[in-house]
Amino acid sequence: MKPRRVLSGVQPTGNLHLGNYLGAIRQWVEFQNTDQVDDEGNVVPTENFFCVVDLHAITMPQDPKDLKESTLASAALYVAAGIDPKISNIFVQSHVSEHAELTWLLNCMTPMNWLERMIQFKEKARKQGESVGVGLFDYPVLMAADILLYQAQKIPVGEDQRQHLELARDIVRRFHDLYCKGNQYKKRCKAAGIPSRQPFVEPEAMIVKEGARIMSLTDGASKMSKSDANDGSRINVLDPPKVIRDKIKRCKTDDIRGLEWDNPERPEATNLLNIYLAVQPDRTKEDIVEEVKDMNWGEFKPLLGDAIVAHLEPIQTRYHEIRADEEYLNSVLNDGAAAARGIAAQTLKAAQVAMGF
Ligand code: ADP
Ligand code: NA
Repeated sequence: MKPRRVLSGVQPTGNLHLGNYLGAIRQWVEFQNTDQVDDEGNVVPTENFFCVVDLHAITMPQDPKDLKESTLASAALYVAAGIDPKISNIFVQSHVSEHAELTWLLNCMTPMNWLERMIQFKEKARKQGESVGVGLFDYPVLMAADILLYQAQKIPVGEDQRQHLELARDIVRRFHDLYCKGNQYKKRCKAAGIPSRQPFVEPEAMIVKEGARIMSLTDGASKMSKSDANDGSRINVLDPPKVIRDKIKRCKTDDIRGLEWDNPERPEATNLLNIYLAVQPDRTKEDIVEEVKDMNWGEFKPLLGDAIVAHLEPIQTRYHEIRADEEYLNSVLNDGAAAARGIAAQTLKAAQVAMGF
């Protein structure tokens, strides 16, 4: 059976928080480690590609002194969190130059007004004003190239990327319509010695089971996010144990004794219990309800701090080992890039031939 290919793009940042970890990375690890089954119940061999998208990162103002470090740090963190380089390919977008090359080809056939409709561009551009770069406008075309190069059928996307995935599908249809029809196309393929099938696969959005939605520690109403100016509002995966315990000690709570889930008047309680459960995957909700029902916050907070530390410590240890062993990390990324390039080069070639190169 032809393997199904799944591509995930991740922004380079070495500073992931508990929300990113519980809401996203841990789901990918689980996905990677679970047999995927089709409608008839057959196990579908699945190839996973994790791409650290540094070319996307430079569409926003960035400091050159940080780019390489964030790229390596994120790759190391993904491996530390359980993305297994023996099962999944991990690579850096800029190491595979086909991404930039295919983007140019697609740029030349994508109507401007398709991009002018992109909501994310409008929002991000508004924040940047006059200095907004062409790259930010073009971001969705680069994303289309990322996906199309790998003939990936399934793309895990959040709600904010859905419109970009639709655009990628529109680009595929337009490209095939413009360049991949009739005898001329067949002749070009024959002359180039490649099969005359269409170069791209129309990608589909894949809904990966959502992890817990983790809220800010200082204001229970907004989600935990790296864009919150207050670092005390989030636990970073690489925070030292003391920092984690302190942040939990200081986080917002109420005056009510006894802890409970899902009381709409007590969003902080629900959030902190969600975290407590999520970092103890071997325990059940019932078991925890029983444990905490008569506790006050002063009793509960140290337990929560300890549980988070216990869960993150092995990931942190592994992270520091990997990050200290640059040779290993580079070999993982080189292997990933080689596997990626093997596929990407064929797709680029097919696109070039279709366009008449
Ligand atoms: P941030 O809001 O910190 O900038 P991103 O938007 O870069 O995070 O999200 C990266 C991934 O982490 C996405 O898959 C997103 O769904 C997940 N994620 C981000 N914040 C949270 C959160 N507070 N709870 C659960 N998942 C989250
Ligand atoms: Na965000």
